[in-house]
Amino acid sequence: MSVVCAIGAQWGDEGKGKVVDLLTERADVVVRFGGGANAGHTLVLGDDTLITHLIPSGVLHPGTACVLGDGMVIDPETLVDEIAAIQARGLLSGGELLVSDRAHVVMPYHKLIEARREAGRGAIGTTGRGIGPAYEAKAARRGIRVRDLLRPDRLRELVARNLDEISPLIATLGGREPSAADIAGWIDAAARAGEALAPHIGDASRFIHGAIGDHKRVLCEGAQGALLDIDHGTYPYVTSSATGAAGACQGAGIGPTDIDRVVGITKAYATRVGSGPFPTEMAAEMAAVWREAGAERGATTGRPRRVGWLDIPALRLAIRKNGITALALTKLDVAVGQPEIQVCVAYDLDGRQIDEMPLDPDDLARATPRYQRFAGWDAPCREARAVDDLPGAAQTYVSALESLLGVPFFLISVGPARAATISLSDPFAE
Ligand code: GDP
Ligand code: IMO
Ligand code: MG
Repeated sequence: MSVVCAIGAQWGDEGKGKVVDLLTERADVVVRFGGGANAGHTLVLGDDTLITHLIPSGVLHPGTACVLGDGMVIDPETLVDEIAAIQARGLLSGGELLVSDRAHVVMPYHKLIEARREAGRGAIGTTGRGIGPAYEAKAARRGIRVRDLLRPDRLRELVARNLDEISPLIATLGGREPSAADIAGWIDAAARAGEALAPHIGDASRFIHGAIGDHKRVLCEGAQGALLDIDHGTYPYVTSSATGAAGACQGAGIGPTDIDRVVGITKAYATRVGSGPFPTEMAAEMAAVWREAGAERGATTGRPRRVGWLDIPALRLAIRKNGITALALTKLDVAVGQPEIQVCVAYDLDGRQIDEMPLDPDDLARATPRYQRFAGWDAPCREARAVDDLPGAAQTYVSALESLLGVPFFLISVGPARAATISLSDPFAE
């Protein structure tokens, strides 16, 4: 297999960072294809932790090319800081980083609009990284692209054209209209970041095609998760990009037939940050126990994550809409010590049993999860390196999930560290 796409199968934070880091062992190129610094992907290496927001999580493997694809929205100052922090670890100094010249730029005024909207009615609970307004500008064909950072005259003209509309909007939303000094500062900062990024900017799609042509292994790293997809998630409580396998084609600039395999990543339970429906959400007391055990706080915003039981109908939706043929199951160790684990296996809706999560908000509000209960286990499982090493009740849980989902696990993660992993099959294998 030459091109593998690994995506979050829930509402984000499934452990993509760890899984992508492991898969990159076998990859020559790793590509982020969508979203921006709303992502927070955690990599644990011994006592050291690195959280990537824009740079692919394969970055710890020296020599692997790291690509920021066409479909991303990039905050240039955040990227410059992230590159510096990673270079300080002795990585990314050999030209491994390529930033698409077609990716869009998140400007400070995008964050201002978002902050004002989030302070008003209909807040989504966003990450505050300017993602929505940057994608809006792109769809309105008024966006600023990474290539524009290299031409200050063009940058100035584009910002001016945008602010004609955006300044009054900020005021309408209750904010202070940006001053001439604000605007000059934003343009200067973006142009300076552009100068710093210049050696890394290029044609990402062509580079990826070249790698595929040379039979190199390419890993497309999803951000967010299937249920946060703009088209296929729990709209409007979603992000503003295509987070799934189709987004990988669009955002990496490759064709659907270039992708050989799509794998998903899911926790052994469920979490969500921000607002929106979460039918399997646990009662507050139980959620607090799991949140503590799983250290469930946002890697980008530090917000406590909402916690719920695993939702098989939601995963079935993610599997079907993305062509997922295998899953990584993460955070199985978090369940240790729980007397009982519940799993939503179907929904009851208007007297009918349905196997996939309904996405229509009215249907979802009326749907009630139907649970199957599993016995918990007390024995720790972080040292397990094969399914047989797991406590019996954990083995029962894992195999029940595989049959409920209809796809196998290729990996089971039993702790944040690289070594705390049961590897079952290699997605890059034929
Ligand atoms: P991502 O956004 O999908 O990359 O996930 P995050 O990094 O936002 O959140 C996942 C969190 O779970 C991080 O703190 C990881 O270090 C941690 N993690 C990943 N896999 C495991 C696991 O198997 N067990 C435990 N206990 N933690 C894990
Ligand atoms: P990773 O890649 C979890 C959520 C936000 C909010 C909604 C819209 O780490 O899994 P946005 O800032 O994108 O406009 O917010 O999407 N969200 C995430 N939740 N993990 C993420 O990324 C997320 N990126 C966005 O909390 O509900
Ligand atoms: Mg995250």
